[in-house]
Amino acid sequence: MNSGKITVEMIHAMKSRGEKIAALTAYDFPMAKLLDEAGVPLLLVGDSLGMVVLGHPDTTHVTMAEMEHHVRAAARAKPNALLGADLPFKSYETVSSAVENAKRLVAAGAEFVKAEGGREILPQVRAIASAGIPLMGHLGMLPQHVLEEGGYRIKGKIESEQQRLLEDARLLADAGAFAIVLELVTPPVAKLISEKISIPTIGIGSGDDCDGQILVTPDLVGLFPWFTPRFVKPKANCAAEIKTAVAAWKDSLQQK
Ligand code: KIV
Repeated sequence: MNSGKITVEMIHAMKSRGEKIAALTAYDFPMAKLLDEAGVPLLLVGDSLGMVVLGHPDTTHVTMAEMEHHVRAAARAKPNALLGADLPFKSYETVSSAVENAKRLVAAGAEFVKAEGGREILPQVRAIASAGIPLMGHLGMLPQHVLEEGGYRIKGKIESEQQRLLEDARLLADAGAFAIVLELVTPPVAKLISEKISIPTIGIGSGDDCDGQILVTPDLVGLFPWFTPRFVKPKANCAAEIKTAVAAWKDSLQQK
């Protein structure tokens, strides 16, 4: 095994040490390689690729075959980072489909899988964990439910929702999840969950007090300029750089 290889145990140790866990999405070979070379310990082939790579309006269009294709590409980077992949929409409705599809993503090169939901997917979480596949949970705003929810809404504003989020986080941890993404959870609730559960929380739009943070990489580097979530402060403007470089090259052709 590569000696710099990040393991689930190392991700857990980061929480124990109070070291923030940086996580980003990668959908192909060059992005996985660049992010790995930048030292990001946790990479996710997220089904956000449906929007930022494939041009769909949301993640519900992403298929298992598409996920496998992108996981294979990212895995060819052989990152030191722990590389995970989303189980896409409707790919884990039953225990048997969950385990079968998790195994397909692992065969494609994923080292963990992520599934959205709490108490309603516990049998699937237990079965995937029992099959020896590390599973990352995902609570709060669940993008695969965006159509029935009618939008991307912040979770944890009301008492009953706060209780449910905390209980679901505990249930997922007990069922064998090794970490949990908290998406668009109110910062005080995300902080409370992070304090109360032993596994790492990875926040997105959930304040600064999660154990780690994940972003959709094109949002972070300005590669998808048509929409940037409000909670992201882009650190680069790659879209503008590309357009400037292309225009300069195009102009240079006229001067030859
Ligand atoms: O699909 C995705 O990219 C995700 C992360 C942003 C958490 O689920």
